[in-house]
Amino acid sequence: MNIHLVSSVGAVGHAIQLLAVPIFETDAGVESVLPADLVKATTGSYLAEDLNSKLGESVVSYRIGETGPERVLLLGAGKASDLDTETLRRWAGHAVRAAESIGVGAVGVYLGGLGGIDVETASQAVTEGAVLASWRFTEMKRLDEDAPPEVTEFTVMAEAEHVDEAGRGAVAGQAIGRAANFTRTLQSRPGNVATPTHLAEEATRMAGERGLGVTVLGPDQLKEERMHALLAVAQGSDEEPRLIILRHDGGEEGAPPLVLVGKGLTFDAGGISIKPSAGMEDMIFDMSGGAAVIGTMQAVAELEVPLNVIGIVPSSENLLNGSAMKPGDIIQSREGKTIEVVNTDAEGRLILADALSYAQSLEPEAIVDCATLTGSVVIALGHHAAAVMGTDNDLVGELQEAGDLSGERCWPMPLWDEYRRQIDSDVADVVNVGGRPGGSITAAAFLREFVGDCKWAHLDIAGTAYGEGKLPYQRKGAAGFPTRLLVQWVRGRAA
Ligand code: BES
Ligand code: MN
Ligand code: ZN
Repeated sequence: MNIHLVSSVGAVGHAIQLLAVPIFETDAGVESVLPADLVKATTGSYLAEDLNSKLGESVVSYRIGETGPERVLLLGAGKASDLDTETLRRWAGHAVRAAESIGVGAVGVYLGGLGGIDVETASQAVTEGAVLASWRFTEMKRLDEDAPPEVTEFTVMAEAEHVDEAGRGAVAGQAIGRAANFTRTLQSRPGNVATPTHLAEEATRMAGERGLGVTVLGPDQLKEERMHALLAVAQGSDEEPRLIILRHDGGEEGAPPLVLVGKGLTFDAGGISIKPSAGMEDMIFDMSGGAAVIGTMQAVAELEVPLNVIGIVPSSENLLNGSAMKPGDIIQSREGKTIEVVNTDAEGRLILADALSYAQSLEPEAIVDCATLTGSVVIALGHHAAAVMGTDNDLVGELQEAGDLSGERCWPMPLWDEYRRQIDSDVADVVNVGGRPGGSITAAAFLREFVGDCKWAHLDIAGTAYGEGKLPYQRKGAAGFPTRLLVQWVRGRAA
């Protein structure tokens, strides 16, 4: 999607196909938010009583003169007092969906009369919403005649005195929206395409384009690094594992980096502890955390964040062949602790254990990992928030705030010692399953064993990484979660 910026002074002469204008609950009419000359030129053809301020409700008004937008979409934006960035993201998503249903490829939004929210923030939010809404996964579908035409042009129209801020917001919104869409594309590719090798190739290609450093470790180097937990998961498959490392040197030389770690399990059949067949196809999304780390690193590079940031993605399949890891096996981790494997389906924590131990050795400022780790988190929080847990309350708080601002929310759960005792093993240092009670917490308690004294937090995204796509800027399938949250957190750290 191409992003454009115009000042509303030029709006009358701007012959855009569709211009969306927000309608708030307190409005008597569109005059309160539309520039007066635009009203005169374009909006003669609506009935005031048809206007509806409910988010997503709309009427279309047609041009009556020779200049200006061909159509004005008078689009409900809810209560003016409730307006926040997530509302604006959804509002822009509605504008794109309206353009699709009318069949026009270009849509603009008018940013005026927004009251409490500053123009830069608003511009970023609507641009994100539009870029996210425009995404679709078509690369493996030849016969899609019913698909609506694509919306390819998005214009932000701001009052003349706010054009600079609107421009800055649009640049950030575009980078973040695109990064989340890259995450979604990687997530959507099925297991036979998006193998660990493929993820590493895509990360390498992206790194080359954006000027990131990249290192990819294969089986031999993983052995040298003593990453036997990652290797143990991978040994049940013919596909080779990878450890992908992306480096953004935006900060001072030698300054401790922020490290992002993402689970890149490209297909999770469960291993010998095999999963039931029903719904197993969703396990192509078990690399969502890894995809989000790769997407986040793209945005971090594009936005030239003035910090050192490192992204790490341990990537493997979890299948079952004659060499596969078995229940009862005791494996060695890179960190040194031994792990009793009682359920081979609790594999995410194994590959993360080695990646976190690697992250720890980089002497980071903080580590944040994200992983589709447990079905348990879906029971706890449903599909509306990720769980966040960690060793540092300030870090957990920062992530929660970044979640609120980005519209990708997370909610804290406790990590008390009682939970740690659930993963005591009789025969090894730790066991990979702590039973059903508190399943998301005991998984996090397991991960904590591999981060040493680092400030670390974990996001369990099993309920949020993909879904039905009910929001106006989403579609069924990959959600890109938590790319926006991570970019927000990293940018917040730089500010
Ligand atoms: N990838 C799954 C978790 C998952 C479940 C992701 C549902 C997305 C949707 C993970 O590897 C897994 O299998 N976890 C097990 C752990 C259990 C064996 C302790 C689970 O949650 O059932
Ligand atoms: Mn599993
Ligand atoms: Zn898994």
